[in-house]
Amino acid sequence: MARSSRISGFYNLSAAERRHIIVDWAELTQEDAAALDGALALGQAEKMIENVVGTYALPMGIATNFLVNGKDVLVPMVIEEPSVVAGASLAAKLARAGGGFHAETTEALMIGQIQVLDLDDLQEAAARILARKQELLDLANTTDPVVVSLHGGARDVEVRLFSRGRGDLLPESPVGAMLLVHLIYDCRDAMGANTVNTACEALAPLVAEITGGRVNLRILSNLADRRLARARCVIPAKALETSGIPGGLAVRRIAEADALAAVDPYRAATHNKGIMNGIDAVVIATGNDWRAVEAGAHAYAARDGRYRSLSTWSVNEEGDLVGSLELPLALGTVGGATRVHPAARLALRILGVSKSRDLAEIVVAVGLAQNLAAIRALATEGIQRGHMALHARQVAIAAGAVGSEVDRVAAAMAEERTVRGDRALELLAALRQSPKP
Ligand code: MEV
Repeated sequence: MARSSRISGFYNLSAAERRHIIVDWAELTQEDAAALDGALALGQAEKMIENVVGTYALPMGIATNFLVNGKDVLVPMVIEEPSVVAGASLAAKLARAGGGFHAETTEALMIGQIQVLDLDDLQEAAARILARKQELLDLANTTDPVVVSLHGGARDVEVRLFSRGRGDLLPESPVGAMLLVHLIYDCRDAMGANTVNTACEALAPLVAEITGGRVNLRILSNLADRRLARARCVIPAKALETSGIPGGLAVRRIAEADALAAVDPYRAATHNKGIMNGIDAVVIATGNDWRAVEAGAHAYAARDGRYRSLSTWSVNEEGDLVGSLELPLALGTVGGATRVHPAARLALRILGVSKSRDLAEIVVAVGLAQNLAAIRALATEGIQRGHMALHARQVAIAAGAVGSEVDRVAAAMAEERTVRGDRALELLAALRQSPKP
């Protein structure tokens, strides 16, 4: 029987009950599931970074309702911010009403940069590099035979020229001219930083010899604009109906919010932060490098010289809301922490992915969902109501509320718009003294 990620009432279950569902979903053993307790042993941590003194835990939640390319997925999200997991789940439910998310990726092409200086003739050096492209590609393909055996490896060599005369360099630049050699490399299921950096370092002496120049930097670019992920969804206007706001009006207000993010960098930064709330949470859960993803996303948002929103929201002929998102996603399902960290391995199992592009397709869909959750709330009831309701639950729990007390104390505080620990204690005491219904 086909499984559904549409699990009604997941939110109201205990963490232990949710775990049971995840154990069944991903066919885990109890031992596998132990990784949900953040089982990163000190010995493993010490192999990951330097000067280790301990480990640091964050909550892992599961976003429900996701349908990506016709497949139901439960999405592990690691994040400290309330409302994000609930927001993603709600938006995924809305998108489900329109057939879910349709996502795609380009090839996993990363760019490595080799900076060449002290050149007499920039044009000639560039021409010589291009003339010996095959030799450079062959050399690059000797550095990681595993990637090459998996049909990845060096694909192309490109050149970029910077000179003071053409106005490409800042007036105060210490160099007068510079050649950049770009190595285009298919990383398959790896994020690729190590592979590409190794290849660039291997190419450097040959690049220096061919050009007669001096090589300085040899490093991957995080503007991974040849490794893009795209997602699209249609939300029926009716699904966006909220108390007091008809669906058509919600669609219009969301499109108006989009118009602001498209032109104003101040809003675009916040709009994109909302997208990255979702993206980072899955990237972290799967042990991937979220700084690389963040750097790529924001550089891509500014690719035409002005910082803009990464997504678009518009109204189609039927009056429904159409959303799309495109950004670079350099994610791996092999290498790095993805295979070392037990919880990251588990996250990949819950997602049911082994290929980097399948992971990227889910991650871009989560980004679009998270964006929708935020702008739908902002354009309708405002962000604070839902946020406060969740925050109130945390405050109620911290005050000692258990079971049904949590929701009752939280609801009372949200109603009063007073979400404070001292008030939670008062309400809890009053609740416990009041006669049982
Ligand atoms: C908060 O973490 C994210 C939002 O500010 C995103 C947005 O404004 O679109 C709510």
